Amino acid sequence: MRYDFVGVNQMSNTGPLRALLDGRFAFFREFLRHPNQIGSIIPSSRFLERRIVETAGINSAKTIVELGPGVGGITRAILSAMGGGAKLVSVEINAHFHSLVSRIKDDRFIPHLGNALNLKEIISIYGLSAPEVVISDIPFSTMSPATGTKIIGEITSTLSPGGRFVAYQLSKRVSFLSLPFLGPGHVEVELFNIPPMRIYRWEKSHI
Ligand SMILES: C[S@@+](CC[C@H](N)C(=O)[O-])C[C@H]1O[C@@H](n2cnc3c(N)ncnc32)[C@H](O)[C@@H]1O
Repeated sequence: MRYDFVGVNQMSNTGPLRALLDGRFAFFREFLRHPNQIGSIIPSSRFLERRIVETAGINSAKTIVELGPGVGGITRAILSAMGGGAKLVSVEINAHFHSLVSRIKDDRFIPHLGNALNLKEIISIYGLSAPEVVISDIPFSTMSPATGTKIIGEITSTLSPGGRFVAYQLSKRVSFLSLPFLGPGHVEVELFNIPPMRIYRWEKSHI
């Protein structure tokens, strides 16, 4: 059985179940402190993690971005799926979550404390090529539409031509915000998650 959903393995040496509970507790505590920024009371399920990695086509990407890694479950799933020469940058606004994902030791992984609004600048700080994949779980439904629009604009302009933007959300707000930038996109639902989650996927045009 795998309990590596958070980089939480490193949070506790008292056993995997304890580590799992520690991760969930850390997530819930941060939700109580910053409910609008976190947007969910528990981390993603392993079913959702797997589905996102498949939907994004991680294994063919050289530069991958994860916005809002939280306690790092999807971060670890991405690292397991991506190639040896690829790089993953996580952008997390919450200092506590950033410190948790920073414990993941992998040469391909660059954890960054910052705001998705500054994605293009963050990519250039690390001298990386334009990402072929941006994965996001930042809660578009609890931020202002103006901020959400700015973030989607930043993602669109940062993605490489033909690059994929994958967002998993309970609310449909992200699809309305993305429509003017990326078109209607494709949506699926993952039922094995609390709550069931919509997974959106857009591809940036080559033109
Ligand atoms: C629902 S939680 C993510 C959970 C995690 N990805 C998972 O699947 O379990 C949303 C995350 O987005 C982060 N976040 C919110 N606004 C952000 C922003 N503007 N830039 C970067 N991270 C942000 C929050 O701190 C939080 O970690």
